[in-house]
Amino acid sequence: MPNQIRISNKIKPFNKTIEVSSDKSLSIRAILLASQAIGVSTISNLLESEDVLNSIRCIKKLGIECKKIKNKYKILGYGLNGFNIKNKTTIYAGNSGTLARLILGLLVRSEKTVKIIGDKSLSKRDFLRVTEPLKKFGANIKSKTNSLPVEILGSNFLRPINYFETRGSAQCKSTVMLAALNTPGTTIIKAKKSRNHTELLFKYLKLPIKIKSNNDFDFIEVTGLKQFDAFDYVVPGDISSCAFFIVLTALSKKSKIRIKNININKSRAGIITILKKMNCKISLKSKKIYKGEETSDIVVESSKNIKGFSCPSYLNSAAIDEFLVIFLIAARAKGVSSFKNLGELNKKESPRLDIAISFLENMGVKVERKKDNIKIFGNPNLELNKNIHIKNYLKDHRVFMMSCIAALSFGGKWKINDKDSINTSFPIFIKILKELGAIIN
Ligand code: S3P
Repeated sequence: MPNQIRISNKIKPFNKTIEVSSDKSLSIRAILLASQAIGVSTISNLLESEDVLNSIRCIKKLGIECKKIKNKYKILGYGLNGFNIKNKTTIYAGNSGTLARLILGLLVRSEKTVKIIGDKSLSKRDFLRVTEPLKKFGANIKSKTNSLPVEILGSNFLRPINYFETRGSAQCKSTVMLAALNTPGTTIIKAKKSRNHTELLFKYLKLPIKIKSNNDFDFIEVTGLKQFDAFDYVVPGDISSCAFFIVLTALSKKSKIRIKNININKSRAGIITILKKMNCKISLKSKKIYKGEETSDIVVESSKNIKGFSCPSYLNSAAIDEFLVIFLIAARAKGVSSFKNLGELNKKESPRLDIAISFLENMGVKVERKKDNIKIFGNPNLELNKNIHIKNYLKDHRVFMMSCIAALSFGGKWKINDKDSINTSFPIFIKILKELGAIIN
C-alpha cells in the first residue's frame, strides 16, 4: 500500500549528533509578522514543511511578495494591513490550525472578504474560539458551522477588547494579539499560560506591549497601529520534532544522542521537565539566548530506571504537542503516571487523547480514564511481539511519528499508514531515523 511503512525491528544502539527541523510555531509567526512590517524581512532556516509553505502561499495570495534567495526567504511588507487583496480571495491553510487562526487575526482590517479553508482534519476543528473575540473587535465574520470555512471582512471601525483566554491556547492568545496590532487603542488580555513566542517577537520588534505575569496567568496589553520595520530572523530547531528523538533514545538500550540548537523556551519545554521527573537522562548544553528565545543542544542517554509521575496540569500547555510520546515513556515506567485536564488534546489535528488511549491499550498497556484525566500503568519490561496496524484516519503527523517511535522502541511488527503526514511539520523525520540505523520499509 502506498504511503504505508513497515517496521519489524527495534533500533540498534546508536550514538549520534543530529539536527531536527526548524520550529514550526516560530516559522509561521515570523512569516505573518514579516507580512505586516515595512520593508524586506529575511528569514533563514525557515521550516520547509507544508504548514509553513502554506503560510507563504497565503500571504502571497493576500498580495505580499515573497522570494527564496539562497536558502533565505525574503518577504516584502507594506506595513500594517498592507495586503492587496483581490475580490473573491480564498486562502488554503492546509492542516495548520496556527496558520488559519493567526491569519484571521491579521485580517480584522481587510478591505475585501477573504475565505479561509483547510484540509479534512482542519475543517473539523473549532474556530469559534477565535471568531468570537474577532467579532468583538468589529470584524465581520461568516461561518455556517463552528469550523472552517470562515469568511472574514475587516472593518474600519475596530475597537480594542478585553479578552480572557481560559484554555491555555497560544493560538487564541496570538490571534487576539495580531488583531490588536491593527486596532486603535489598547487591547487587554488575561491569558492562561501558554507558549509566548508572539510576545517575545512583539518585544523584539519594539511593538507597544506590556506583560505582567503570575504563576497561572499572563496579563498582556497591546497598543495597536504602531508601524514596525522589517527584520531578520534565524529560526531555531523545534522541540516538538526533537521530542521523538528524546523519547526514542531514552527508551533504547546503550544509546546517546545530541540534538543541536533547539528552542527550549520554558513555555515549550514541558517535555524536558516531565521526563527529568521520570528519571530520564537529559541535559542541556551550549545554552544561548536568541532574540528573547532560549536555545540549547539537548543530550539524551538511554534511561534504565524510568519511574511513574503525577503530572501537574500547569505543565500541560508547555508539553501539549508532546504528550503522545510522553505517554510512551509512561508505558515503560515503574509505577503509575497520571495526567489531568487533557481535554485540549482532543482538539488537535486528530482527537489525540482518545487515540493515545486505544494506542496504549493495543500495546497491552493498562490505562484508566476519567473524563479528561488518565492514569497509565507502566511496565518496565514492556516488549511487544504482535502485529499492529496504525490506520491514522485523519493523517495526523504526530500520530504517525509516535507510532514509529513505539515500533522502534518496543518491538513487534508494525504497519503504519500515512507516511506523507510528516510533511506537515517534519519532512526529514524518516531520513534521520534511518541515519540512526532504523530499518524502515
Ligand atoms: C501552537 C499552539 C498549540 C499547539 C500547536 C501550535 C502555536 O495549539 O498545539 O501545535 O504555534 O501557537 P493551541 O494554542 O491551540 O493549544
